[in-house]
Amino acid sequence: MAGIRLPPEDIDISQARALLTADLISDDDRSIAADSWSIKSDYGSTLDDDQRHADASEALAAARFCAASDYSSDKEEPDAETITSMLGYQSYWDATYADELTNFREHGDAGEVWFGADVMEMVASWTKGLCVDISQRHLQNHHNDDDSESISQEDKDLAGWSVLDVGTGNGMLLHELAKQGFSDLTGIDYSEGAINLARSLANRDGFISIKLLVDDVLETKLEKKFELVMDKGTLDAIGLHQDGPIKRIMYWESMSRLVAPGGLLVITSCNNTKEELVQEVENFNQRKIGEVEEEEEEEGKGGLFWYLDHIRSYPTFMFGGSVGSRVATVAFCVR
Ligand SMILES: C[S@@+](CC[C@H](N)C(=O)[O-])C[C@H]1O[C@@H](n2cnc3c(N)ncnc32)[C@H](O)[C@@H]1O
Repeated sequence: MAGIRLPPEDIDISQARALLTADLISDDDRSIAADSWSIKSDYGSTLDDDQRHADASEALAAARFCAASDYSSDKEEPDAETITSMLGYQSYWDATYADELTNFREHGDAGEVWFGADVMEMVASWTKGLCVDISQRHLQNHHNDDDSESISQEDKDLAGWSVLDVGTGNGMLLHELAKQGFSDLTGIDYSEGAINLARSLANRDGFISIKLLVDDVLETKLEKKFELVMDKGTLDAIGLHQDGPIKRIMYWESMSRLVAPGGLLVITSCNNTKEELVQEVENFNQRKIGEVEEEEEEEGKGGLFWYLDHIRSYPTFMFGGSVGSRVATVAFCVR
């Protein structure tokens, strides 16, 4: 697997989505997937694995996922399917970042910027705009309240937003966010090589205050919540594992715990449209609401997601009679 790369710029949306859907598994396959779950124990805590997996499997049975039968597998591209599935495995990323670290040490290369530099810059500046709007609205409300209490957490300016980038890779998005004025920045990635590369680049480029940690977002050790959580390409990668549907459910559970109430989650994806992400979030919310009705809400269980906005300025193209863009960036707020 080592060394095989799928250049992100070469994925068009129809191809990438077809490849993702090809990974959806049948009921029979799910039991096989459950057996292969032990892959997690190679790189993360297994303390709550059984419970998390059981919860996610149960939720999966109830969730309305796009059925595997909706997809007619494109047998003309078997290699592409194999390559894309590798992106769902930590071994792929460990090998990739080992190569990228060598390239960095030998040539100073920063490595792959997923979806390209233009998208990264657009995501960072658009996100800044959202956060500034929210901060200003809170400030406005605060003044209108005629309340002379000290400024609340929500009223903090941009520099006060705590930011987490999940699956940060080389951490370049965090550099971009720092240039936009964010200063409380943390990046996590389950690949140690990614974190070593990100740390080397942050030191080289003078972003020494960025915090970088090896952590699996699906079973995170982070206990604090963040006002802004960024994901560029990580949910895409997670969904490409054989257990993708189960892992996606675990992803949303983690996110609902990691994003502070009133905070934002900004996802950039090439495997899902804005509509699909919104639908996935609605499925998550419905399931969560069902759980709360069944049992007393546990402290710190996490919030629900609400669609806030999406980037409208990505270039679009026509495919099969419908208009789409290669990448979708969607912001959700958590309540
Ligand atoms: C497509 S790359 C995107 C990297 C970076 N966000 C960017 O935009 O350049 C996906 C990243 O997610 C990381 N990743 C995948 N699954 C993860 C998980 N469960 N926890 C933490 N990181 C994960 C991979 O190691 C990889 O760095």
